[in-house]
Amino acid sequence: MAQIIDGKAVAQRVRDDLKKEVEIFKKQNGFAPGLATVLVGENPASKVYVKNKNKACEGAGMVSEQIVLSDATSEKELLDLVQRLNENPKIHGILVQLPLPKQIRSDKILNAISPAKDVDGFHPVNVGNLVAGNPCLKSCTPFGIMKLLESINYDIAGKNAVIVGRSNIVGKPAALMLLAAHATVTICHSKTQNLPDVVRGADLVVAAIGKPQFVKGSWIKEGAVVIDVGINRLPDGKLVGDVEFDEASKRASAITPVPGGVGPMTIAMLLWNTLEAARAGLAAKNA
Ligand code: GUN
Repeated sequence: MAQIIDGKAVAQRVRDDLKKEVEIFKKQNGFAPGLATVLVGENPASKVYVKNKNKACEGAGMVSEQIVLSDATSEKELLDLVQRLNENPKIHGILVQLPLPKQIRSDKILNAISPAKDVDGFHPVNVGNLVAGNPCLKSCTPFGIMKLLESINYDIAGKNAVIVGRSNIVGKPAALMLLAAHATVTICHSKTQNLPDVVRGADLVVAAIGKPQFVKGSWIKEGAVVIDVGINRLPDGKLVGDVEFDEASKRASAITPVPGGVGPMTIAMLLWNTLEAARAGLAAKNA
């Protein structure tokens, strides 16, 4: 049976470490790193995510400013808010929760966030720096996946990593981070041919497609490591990932559960990015 990778425990360790680092930062600088979260509209899942992000932020000793706007907010109003947050010296990280209402173009908003405060790592400057292998703010979920792999001392170099899903939030940045760690990376998507066979060649599988139990246990190579990014609710209310967990865990050497695997890492890495952004902001000021 596979080792179960305990994301909750790893995330708690990251958060405990961060809390200590934030204490030191506050002593040295006389203020706390600050995160602004922006929620537009009433999406129930987004409300929960944003609430958890703010709670975690305060738990780590950082300042969190929550801005909640109505569903009817215009693109211009949101752009003006982003501009004010960009200029606010107490705010080091800005997170605009996605999805946004349809009258607002997400690209326009994400591109307006200062790259130095882009704790989601979604701005083209940060994405470009990730491609080039330069230091940058990194997308939180794939960054969390890298931490999970580190937690089991997984040696990524030379491994065949197969990523199922090519989203800008997870699949693409995960591919770039694994490539930077010297994996041989394949990105699969809805048009990929012979997907089961491609996955069968993987030493490391990252499933991020948002379809319940889409990756079958029989596709997993004996001894592979499986990272399941999916969080899907079945009609009976049960939460499952993108991987058929029970079957996959008979073949994998290590696997993340759902819930309690990748999920808790995303918020931990958001806090990490906020502290990094606060530190880098100071470095720029003192240069
Ligand atoms: N919606 C779903 N995941 C995310 C995320 O990581 N960041 C933001 N801003 N919105 C999201």
